[in-house]
Amino acid sequence: MTTAHDTLSSSLLGYRAPSDPKPSRRAWTVASSILVVASLLLLLVFGVIVTNDVDGPKKWLSEGETEVVESENGVVAADDGRCSAIGAEALRAGGHAVDAAVAVALCVGVVNPMSSGIGGGGFIVVRSAETAVAEAFDARETAPSAASQNMYANNPTAKEIGPLSMGVPGELLGLHLAWSKHGRLPWKSLFQPSIKLARDGFVVAPYLAQAIARSEQAMLADPGLHSVFTRDDKILKAGDTCSNPELARSLEAVSEEGPKAFYDGWVGEKLVEDVKAAGGVITKEDLKGYRVEVSKAMEVDVMGFKILGMPLPSSGTLGMSLVLNVLGSYGSPDAVKGSLGVHRLIEALKHMFAMRMNLGDSNFVNATSYERDMLSKSFAEKVQHKIFDNTTFDPGYYLTRWSQLRDHGTSHFCVVDADRNAVSMTTTVNYYFGARMLSPSTGIVLNNEMDDFSTPTEKTPISFPLHLQTSLSQTRDHCLQ
Ligand SMILES: *[C@@H]1O[C@H](CO)[C@@H](O)[C@H](O)[C@H]1NC(C)=O
Ligand SMILES: *[C@@H]1O[C@H](CO)[C@@H](O)[C@H](O)[C@H]1NC(C)=O
Repeated sequence: MTTAHDTLSSSLLGYRAPSDPKPSRRAWTVASSILVVASLLLLLVFGVIVTNDVDGPKKWLSEGETEVVESENGVVAADDGRCSAIGAEALRAGGHAVDAAVAVALCVGVVNPMSSGIGGGGFIVVRSAETAVAEAFDARETAPSAASQNMYANNPTAKEIGPLSMGVPGELLGLHLAWSKHGRLPWKSLFQPSIKLARDGFVVAPYLAQAIARSEQAMLADPGLHSVFTRDDKILKAGDTCSNPELARSLEAVSEEGPKAFYDGWVGEKLVEDVKAAGGVITKEDLKGYRVEVSKAMEVDVMGFKILGMPLPSSGTLGMSLVLNVLGSYGSPDAVKGSLGVHRLIEALKHMFAMRMNLGDSNFVNATSYERDMLSKSFAEKVQHKIFDNTTFDPGYYLTRWSQLRDHGTSHFCVVDADRNAVSMTTTVNYYFGARMLSPSTGIVLNNEMDDFSTPTEKTPISFPLHLQTSLSQTRDHCLQ
């Protein structure tokens, strides 16, 4: 068993002090360099260390810049440094990793509302140090009861944009369920930093500014988005201050009354009223009937490490296993170094993204043979043989059967506390700003998760939202690495 220092520093960022080489951990180094590269490609990660003399996170990292953190007391890595700091504060106050995760998720929903929020959903993996049990919370959105197979027949864009694209949000109930099992700090206290950010305002980071600019039309067209993300009819830019007082009020209600305020109280009622007024079909009963599904986390062995992650309908654990096995089949850590390493990673990801389109909710789709392939080393070798170091290919080379999901508007973060409890959460509103609509009376951005369902006219096989959750926790010999 390695020291806490060692395990914690390498668990999230693959950091290993150059002066302390450990050749026996070569496989891990390959895996961790892959994780680091993957996370850099997917998002800018701001890590915060939990110590008593913390400097706090750097303001923003620019593209390609990395920040390595290490700690004996815990780590929080979210895609906004302010949220990592809020999570670290919860750990410092004696919180469980789940307490920090609740605080981080709420914060991300406020400062990165294009990607996350209480109007969306998430996957949460919680690994308890005490019991060594890892649970998977599926808090993804579900279809409203009035949804039907042909509801978009006359207007296909309604599946992607506007009130009809909204699924029943699951984020708050998922967080609350995880907290009720593991949390140590008062629920209310975890909301305070985010309520303050939403009410008093926060500085628009370049990442949010970019998303606002890309969605400029929606910002000007939707009254709710307009009220939060524009000033004098101009969209907010990086460095401007953004506030969302209605969201602050909604969060305050949930902090005091629990998720009931949303699922069976005034916040939910107002949300439903706004959505109905705009032409949506979601009802109070849909909110009241929402349930989080809890199961055992999926366990796979890759390179001698146990990866814990979401089972289907998330494709993350299978996808991570396939990509790591493909890269591992090169047989040397050097294979993933430098620009050639990045090329191989990207090609492996392309094959994985194509492969995962065969998956779906196991209640509806029998994907057993694809699951088996994605876990198989010999299949990974076959995929590796399709990767050429001197070229890339047209999409048809990778995508032999299905059209690809366009995925963005999602955030991911990880927390490890001093006891080595770990949380890995993917949170989303689906596309940037989800349905491109914000409920004016609650400040909540609507997800557009209905776009993940296939309709009779489409070529995707998925009959339930399918999502990629990336890295979770790697364990070996039952200790967190
Ligand atoms: C799913 O497909 C596999 C073959 O790919 C088959 O062995 C299995 O019986 C099927 N399961 C169900 C529930 O149909
Ligand atoms: C690319 O590499 C493959 C196999 O390594 C080789 O067969 C092929 O000729 C190369 N193509 C070019 C354009 O160099």
